[in-house]
Amino acid sequence: MQLYSFSDAELLNGDLASQIKNILCEAVSLRGIAYLVVSGGKTPIALFKILSKTCLPWEKVQIILADERCVSSEHKDSNAGLVKEYLLQHEAQKAHLMSLYEEGMNLSLKEASIAALPLFDAVILGMGEDGHTASLFPCSDELETCLDDEAKALHLVQPKSAPYQRITLSKKRLLESRIIFLHILGKKKRMVLSQALAQKDPRVMPVSAFLNHQEANVQVMYAPD
Ligand code: 6PG
Repeated sequence: MQLYSFSDAELLNGDLASQIKNILCEAVSLRGIAYLVVSGGKTPIALFKILSKTCLPWEKVQIILADERCVSSEHKDSNAGLVKEYLLQHEAQKAHLMSLYEEGMNLSLKEASIAALPLFDAVILGMGEDGHTASLFPCSDELETCLDDEAKALHLVQPKSAPYQRITLSKKRLLESRIIFLHILGKKKRMVLSQALAQKDPRVMPVSAFLNHQEANVQVMYAPD
C-alpha cells in the first residue's frame, strides 16, 4: 500500500484524474477496452466532474459500480444516478455504465455477468468512518461471506447502519484489478485510515482487507479537506 498525501482535494483530484486517464488510455490501446470501477458517496463527485471533461476514448470504457443501493436509478440515493449526473457528461457521455441493480432483476445473472468481466484496470474505493468500503460494512451479517477468498463476485447485503439493502462487489472481485485507489478526504478519515492500517481483522474494519493485502496494488490518495 502506498499513501499519497496532498495539501488539498483539488490537487488530489487533478492527480488522480490524470492517473485514471493514463490507465484508461493504455488499457484501450493494449486491449481495446478499459474497465473502471467507481464508488458512490460525496467524495468522488469533484473527481467525476474533472474526468467527465477529460478527453480519452470513453466509448471504449466500461464503468462498473463497486456497489449500489437497492433503489431505482432515479432515486436521489442511487449510485448509478450519481455517476450519470456527474461522470457520464461532456466527453465521458460516451462511456458505458453497467448497473448493479434494477427492480426485479435476477441477482444470479447479474453476478455471473460481473464475475465474467476480466481484470479491472482501476478500482476507485471510498471509505466510511466505520471503515466500510463499497458496501462491505462491519455491521452487516453478510460481511464474512463477502470477505471470503472464494466469494461470489456480487452480494446482496443489509447493513444495519445504512438505509436500503445494497448490492456490493465482493472483496475478491474488487481485488481483481491492476490498481486500487482509496480516495479519502478529511482529517477524520485520516484517523480512520490509521486505525484501519493497525486493524488486521477486516471483519472489524473491512477496508483493512485492501490496505493490508500483501499483493494488491493499493494507492491511498488523501487530502485533509
Ligand atoms: C456508497 C459508497 C461508499 C462510500 C463511503 C464514503 O455507496 O456510499 O460506495 O462505500 O464510498 O460511504 O462515502 P463519502 O464519500 O460520502 O464519505
